[in-house]
Amino acid sequence: MAAISEFFSTQHRACDRVFEKMEEAVSRDDWPQAESLYKELSRDTLQHFSNEEEGLFPLFEETTGMQAGPTQVMRGEHVELRELLQRIGDAVQARDRDEALGTAETFFLFLQQHNVKEEQVLYPMADQVLQGVLPELSDKVPGFTPSGE
Ligand SMILES: [Fe+2]
Ligand SMILES: [Fe+2]
Repeated sequence: MAAISEFFSTQHRACDRVFEKMEEAVSRDDWPQAESLYKELSRDTLQHFSNEEEGLFPLFEETTGMQAGPTQVMRGEHVELRELLQRIGDAVQARDRDEALGTAETFFLFLQQHNVKEEQVLYPMADQVLQGVLPELSDKVPGFTPSGE
């Protein structure tokens, strides 16, 4: 797998694992654990969105000249996903198990559809067109190295 697909897909998997642990904690009414896992989920997810919005998407748009293409759709979905994430946080804070689990399910389904589009369409395209500007991407994305190490 090329560098961009590898790095960004790995972040998807990592967020999924935290999400699953948080959902389990909510299911067994372990609220302190749920709160702590929610914080981790929120931090990692928002950092990932920012890696895309501040790093990957602008570089993709500049390089391809496609301003209104797939990156625009992904940005719009991030807005909705941020709202759902916030609602999960509010429900966890309120210790409202049904609301937390219901919103978590909606969030996760939507996130999976979003991630599949990125992993099957956007990242492979980015891997092809951004070969020459990977050092610029690593300036904007914490932890990303052009060689994928
Ligand atoms: Fe995204
Ligand atoms: Fe993503």
